Amino acid sequence: MEAISVEELTKKFGRVYALRGATFHVERGSVTALLGPNGAGKTTTIKVLLGLLRPNSGRVRVLGMDPWREEVEVRRSIGVLHERPVYPGGFRVRDLLEYVARIRGLNADSVDRALRLTGLGNHGDARVSSLSRGYLQRLGIAAAIVGDPEVLLLDEPTANLDPAARMEILDLVSLLSRELDVTVLVSSHIIPELERICDHAILISEGRVVEQGNLRELAERYRSSVILEVKVDEPRGLASRLMSMDGVIGVEILEGGLFLKVKSDRIREVEEDLMSSGLSVTFRTSSLQDIYTNVVARDANISG
Ligand SMILES: Nc1ncnc2c1ncn2[C@@H]1O[C@H](COP(=O)(O)OP(=O)(O)OP(=O)(O)O)[C@@H](O)[C@H]1O
Ligand SMILES: [Mg+2]
Repeated sequence: MEAISVEELTKKFGRVYALRGATFHVERGSVTALLGPNGAGKTTTIKVLLGLLRPNSGRVRVLGMDPWREEVEVRRSIGVLHERPVYPGGFRVRDLLEYVARIRGLNADSVDRALRLTGLGNHGDARVSSLSRGYLQRLGIAAAIVGDPEVLLLDEPTANLDPAARMEILDLVSLLSRELDVTVLVSSHIIPELERICDHAILISEGRVVEQGNLRELAERYRSSVILEVKVDEPRGLASRLMSMDGVIGVEILEGGLFLKVKSDRIREVEEDLMSSGLSVTFRTSSLQDIYTNVVARDANISG
């Protein structure tokens, strides 16, 4: 089931093409990364999905609706974090969220939940102007989830944050996707950044979608290394055996299990070995950098 479907979307600004026939789909309940370099068309895509920009041509559906024609209905179902959000600094955090709730016709209950989920529970009385960038980004995400949207659009939620704050925001997005019954489309120009939290990816370049799909399929198609999670009571003993296994390029011990980094051409063998030992193995993620590099290399071969 698709939450978002975009076919042959073209958007021009004057003579500049921001999108040139982009086609992609976002599955309901997924966390989908929208990845591409600066100027690729990520923000334009998000604005079209919100009904803020009118496409020149193409078919766009969000939850079955046309965002340009049914903007009010679509906006009611979408929470958004814009690329460069601006907040009135004089407001207190809670007051700002209550204001957001009011204009969406909601009561204050949804504000409490948004504060709690985003880790702002103790900052409700803080002035917006006193928040660090990381906490401002949390506030933006809190505002996006007020009203329990079905779709969350996050445009570079980690932009301008230090590494620790980036991790916190990514963990928050991951938490929200688990806690709320929501579809997340999150953009970044830092390719590997989202691999920890997303299960699907859309790669966009110069206004075209150059690849998309779920990470497991993409890993197989582009021979990217992957991370597998293995559940086991005594991870240390298993770790030393796995270190010497052909194709295993990294082991990280966790409580009650471990993460294995496995070369693309050995994934099946390693999985079969573990499963035949009665262990439970789950695909965690693939290297988005590997996939991206291989997609770019493929496109260079086609055009060259
Ligand atoms: N309002 C506008 N007027 C003119 N050109 C625009 C406008 N908005 C975007 N563009 C152009 O469209 C192209 C795509 O821009 P967009 O902002 O969608 O890219 P992006 O992938 O979000 O990039 P970034 O990673 O820098 O945020 C760029 O060439 C940009 O200069
Ligand atoms: Mg952008």
